[in-house]
Amino acid sequence: MPTYKAKFSAFGSHTPAKIVNNFDLEKMIDTTDEWIRTRTGMIERHYCAEDEAASDLATVAATNAIEASQVRFKDIDLIITGTVTGDHAFPSTACVVQKKLGLKGIPAFDVSAGCSGFIYALNIAKTFVENGSAENILVIGVDVLTKITNWADRGTCVLFGDGSGAAVVSRARQSDTSHIIDCLIQSDGSQGELLFQAAGGSRMPASHETVDKNLHTVYMEGNRIYKQAIRSMFSSTDELLKRNKISAEDVDWIIPHQANLRIIEALASKLRVPMSKVIVNIEKYGNTSSATIPLALDEAIRSGKIRRGDIILLTAFGAGLTWGSLLARY
Ligand code: ACO
Repeated sequence: MPTYKAKFSAFGSHTPAKIVNNFDLEKMIDTTDEWIRTRTGMIERHYCAEDEAASDLATVAATNAIEASQVRFKDIDLIITGTVTGDHAFPSTACVVQKKLGLKGIPAFDVSAGCSGFIYALNIAKTFVENGSAENILVIGVDVLTKITNWADRGTCVLFGDGSGAAVVSRARQSDTSHIIDCLIQSDGSQGELLFQAAGGSRMPASHETVDKNLHTVYMEGNRIYKQAIRSMFSSTDELLKRNKISAEDVDWIIPHQANLRIIEALASKLRVPMSKVIVNIEKYGNTSSATIPLALDEAIRSGKIRRGDIILLTAFGAGLTWGSLLARY
């Protein structure tokens, strides 16, 4: 039995100012608004400016989350960032955010789990709070996929947007009903090459050739990922619900990773949950990787849709391959 329970104190989010809609993309590549809308559900997405990077978005989202909580900046005792598009390969983006927030001394690190990065980071935060290692943890999901987009691949370049979301995960008081009930994270490295960035690491360092061949950009076998995403998010949410003896009907809100509206609809149908209980904002932001879930949660909470006491189920899928789900009473 854990010593303590963890809860969500608050959420925050931030997206860059520039908006690119499907009609803008029509002018840039061989695509149509109709194809993008009907195949993905996306209408527009936000792009970082040339001089804007992950930590810039993350710092604003983190500030919004801390300010929305009862927690003071000086009481944050750990920063965990889920990202695959950090400012640099090293230092971690969590350390850059730590510097920007002026929280010198506390530990900070990144988690690389693709679009599942936020769920992975939340699972670590939950464990740190439950075992008493930390009391208030800043968990960030941030990605700037437009900086590693392959504009020669119309099957992927229309999908991505930039964004950031953050949560403050705190020790729950005895009197709190809010708490993170359970979390499940999984992976299958044998399928890693279905979704990856080939060059830039120690396997294939940067060279003129890697740049000429576009190997620093996202490679994705969309069709195979599509099927795997539905299968994995369903099995993970199903297992999480069963082992906590909670039925899908008891869940007030499902907040899935926003990669494709058709994936989200298929998942809802397999779980036998009406779409009215599923938080969707893919039309406004596209796929922002590890930021989709905290962005959607923050919007839904601030608009009054998700309220304290609601049972929420988060689920994500991404590069690795990785996937995971989290069940909480908000
Ligand atoms: N505009 C117009 N036509 C297009 C475009 C485009 N942007 N992209 C592809 N097409 C065409 C193809 O060329 C193909 O044409 P053809 O039949 O003449 O050959 C046709 O559309 C169908 O292509 P598919 O790739 O089969 O399209 P599909 O319906 O599978 O949709 C998509 C592609 C949207 C990428 C889908 O497979 C998907 O969403 N996959 C999963 C994405 C995902 O979940 N990723 C995981 C997280 S992402 C992360 O971690 C970074």
